[in-house]
Amino acid sequence: MKKHNFSAGPSVLPEEALEAAAKAIFDFNGTGISLLSISHRTKEFEAVVASAQSLIRELLHVPENYHIYFVGGGASTQFFHLPANFLGGKAAYINTGVWTKKAIKEAKHYGEVDVIASSEDKNFNYIPKNYTIPEDADYLYICSNNTIYGTEYKCDIDSPIPLIADMSSNIMSRPIDVSKYAVIYGGAQKNLAPAGVTFVIIRDDMLQRVVRPLPSMVDVNTHVTNNSMFNTPPVFPIFVMNETLKWIKAQGGVEALYKRNVEKAELLYNEIDRNSLFRPTAAKEDRSLMNICFVMSEGNEDLAAEFLEFATARGMVGVKGHRLVGGFRASCYNACPRESVEALVACMQEFEEMKLK
Ligand SMILES: Cc1ncc(COP(=O)(O)O)c(C=O)c1O
Repeated sequence: MKKHNFSAGPSVLPEEALEAAAKAIFDFNGTGISLLSISHRTKEFEAVVASAQSLIRELLHVPENYHIYFVGGGASTQFFHLPANFLGGKAAYINTGVWTKKAIKEAKHYGEVDVIASSEDKNFNYIPKNYTIPEDADYLYICSNNTIYGTEYKCDIDSPIPLIADMSSNIMSRPIDVSKYAVIYGGAQKNLAPAGVTFVIIRDDMLQRVVRPLPSMVDVNTHVTNNSMFNTPPVFPIFVMNETLKWIKAQGGVEALYKRNVEKAELLYNEIDRNSLFRPTAAKEDRSLMNICFVMSEGNEDLAAEFLEFATARGMVGVKGHRLVGGFRASCYNACPRESVEALVACMQEFEEMKLK
């Protein structure tokens, strides 16, 4: 049976990227050596890093005065790396759920954290809109897409102080204005690669804003100066990321994927809104294009386990919601085909017909 992968991350990747990776495991770019055994210092692998950097630059229209590097440690490592570098006095954070809470906790090791807005009052089902950004703070921190709650910033916000964004779960899903951010980073294991690599896009002036002496691996300058090669970078995920970026370009770039993502999300949200057995959890204006969260409608809560079993039997994978929200979550990343969303919609309709008979 065909499987439809809606996992939140690691998640579905383009078949073309998987095929290239499978081939490279046996023979990396005609070198006669496996990608898993090749030195990261070879010119062939250095070319992969250069290609991935240049594709990110091209696809996101990254201005000249930004650097791009790749490191291990996951997005969670950046939760403390970034404040270690930039938090000297006070930093402003907008709290939109688990991932910002974790970032706030780590930032407190380095200075004062001013949580200028939070959506915790409604279990993080919306993006706060009313807040004042303190001009004396070192930076403003946001999470652009909240993987667990299915909420997303719909535009790039203006900030008078350096803006840092965790874009782990919506990078490359919509066009962004990179020039509004000082740092954009994320774990690549959702829209770009298998787990193991973190991307960082950093504006040049931030390199001079490092507020304290730091161990080499923590200092952002190390990774920029050594072009992602200070230590052994995650070779395999970087290779797959490069193949995924080539795929994104072949699809027509981020602009074309955004159009497709809007269509896929509309299809599923329309069904959630229409189907009497389900209801959405995120506020309408903040609904994520990537992580679509829903629960059983009032009075039908006890059907949740049955629907999950019903959907699983029809090939749906990874649709169980995060334990903090419950219900269901369909992650519709770039590489999730429209047919998968159609299959889930058909499954919800079939379940409704069966129950209302
Ligand atoms: C928005 C967001 N930030 C950070 C993380 C943590 O990433 P990592 O597991 O790479 O540390 C996740 C993981 O799902 C996430 O969704």
